[in-house]
Amino acid sequence: MSNLKWWQTAVFYQIYPRSFADGNGDGIGDFKGATEKLDYLVALGVDAIWLSPHFPSPNWDCGYDISDYRNVAPEYGTLQDFKTFLDESHKRNIRVILDLVLNHTSDEHPWFIESKSSRDNPKADWYVWADTPPNNWQSCFDGEAWTYSPERDQFYYHYFMKQQPDLNWHNPKVKKAMWDAVRFWLDIGVDGYRLDAIGTIFEDPDLTPHTVPMNLAELRRFSELAQTPEDLKLKDKYWEDMFKNQWGQGGVHELMKELRGILDEYDGDRMLVGEDDNIDYIGNGNDELHLVFNFPLMRTERLTPEHIRRNQEERLKQLAALSKVPGWPCNTLGNHDCSRVYTRFGSKLHGPELARLHAALVLTLKGTPFLYNGEEIGMTDYMLTDISQVKDTMGSWYYHAIVTDMGVHPDEAMVRTAEMTRDKNRTPMQWLNGPNSGFSPAHVNTWLPVNPNYRDGINVMDQEKNPSSLLNYYKHLLRVRRESHALREGEQVSLHESAKDYVAFLRQSDEQTVLVVLNFSENTLELDFTQEFKNAKMKSIFSSAERRTGEINPKFKVSPFEVFITEINRE
Ligand code: NOJ
Repeated sequence: MSNLKWWQTAVFYQIYPRSFADGNGDGIGDFKGATEKLDYLVALGVDAIWLSPHFPSPNWDCGYDISDYRNVAPEYGTLQDFKTFLDESHKRNIRVILDLVLNHTSDEHPWFIESKSSRDNPKADWYVWADTPPNNWQSCFDGEAWTYSPERDQFYYHYFMKQQPDLNWHNPKVKKAMWDAVRFWLDIGVDGYRLDAIGTIFEDPDLTPHTVPMNLAELRRFSELAQTPEDLKLKDKYWEDMFKNQWGQGGVHELMKELRGILDEYDGDRMLVGEDDNIDYIGNGNDELHLVFNFPLMRTERLTPEHIRRNQEERLKQLAALSKVPGWPCNTLGNHDCSRVYTRFGSKLHGPELARLHAALVLTLKGTPFLYNGEEIGMTDYMLTDISQVKDTMGSWYYHAIVTDMGVHPDEAMVRTAEMTRDKNRTPMQWLNGPNSGFSPAHVNTWLPVNPNYRDGINVMDQEKNPSSLLNYYKHLLRVRRESHALREGEQVSLHESAKDYVAFLRQSDEQTVLVVLNFSENTLELDFTQEFKNAKMKSIFSSAERRTGEINPKFKVSPFEVFITEINRE
């Protein structure tokens, strides 16, 4: 029996609706398509979906600029289509959480249209207005953070794009309107929310200027060209200094408490996960968010045993120290905002092996894992080559800024843009080896190009047929996790802490103990656990290598890059 809540034992799968499944053949994903793929998710073995924004939006930021919080984007279907998707998910025991964008709306949201219409309309102070730009703040996406509105002859503040004006959360009416929208979807039956960019909700009340001697485009360019240790250090410092007055300010905890109060009025353990790695947002364990992401795990060039151990030690210690109720971890290696795990942490020589190791890492560490659609078939980043293909506005803005203002050659600018834009990791899901990878019918222009590597086996249908594919590996591992009390619920104890080449840890619950060994090296390693498991019987329950099942000795070999999980039975 489990003492934990569903969101602690569930494996989440992020659906990026525009790119997941196109049910009506228009080149854009939709609810009809996603509903048809629910059985795929059941077969994969996930328990919950995080759905990136599905609301009406002019799509300057691919749905994160919402123009109506109580409806469905027409290209994704109708509200009824959403309800069908939700019901069908629930019928299959899959929960669904939505994306909740609190910091800003679209500039086409009726609230903003009214707010900008005059200085004395009823919503005049629903956003953050100033007569002149009060400081040099930058938007993290597209230049100046203060944009002029001729209707009011004033400037409004936006942390993100100028099409994403920040709401004024000091205004109780804003809160009420947003909480009503929150209830709207909870009433329909959604299981919770992933909270977008909560750190940006409040700004420094003194509006303190930043001290970086350049603007956003210049800083991006400086970062691209930085090579010396001094410049690399300076780059990090500049990024921190540029935005430190625009996020992480007081007030968010109170807001999260209110929001939690609303969720707790509902039955069914509705949950909140924050797009933030600050553990403080878990509050006393019962009064703010249920989870925050362990982003520090993925904030590294390479996932090395040392990095993983350090991350886990810090994170688990902080979570345990939180309050009487220890916080629950939440691990992920990728999402729609960053390079795909296969590309980012892979290598030319050992891509498939590393993908297996990384999957095992998120699925065996203590905590709730979040997977990103497509990672289970090893989808990779796809570099666009023509600026007309770019859909991510922060990419096209940057391209034009460096070509026009800095005289960078368009070819070089395009290469840089392709690398920095998030389009590369948002291309359509690759369902089969056929036109448009089966995402859309042949001859349809998909909203972003399909990565042609679907022809090289990186597609669902081919991998379903191949017993040794990455997809079947994920399915197997997810099944092992589901059947293992220790992997789902157990405490984590790190072993062999000075090992350079591998990570070893125990997961132990009152019902079961397992040992997880992840060999990050290309060598066969001879490991010795006789000290730890003197009088124990060890039985293999999972291996990514060819290996006999059954009892094993506490001295054993692991193959290069092997994932090896054994059950330990102490006499
Ligand atoms: C974080 C989201 O994940 C990202 O995609 C978006 O652009 C920003 N927040 C702004 O909403």
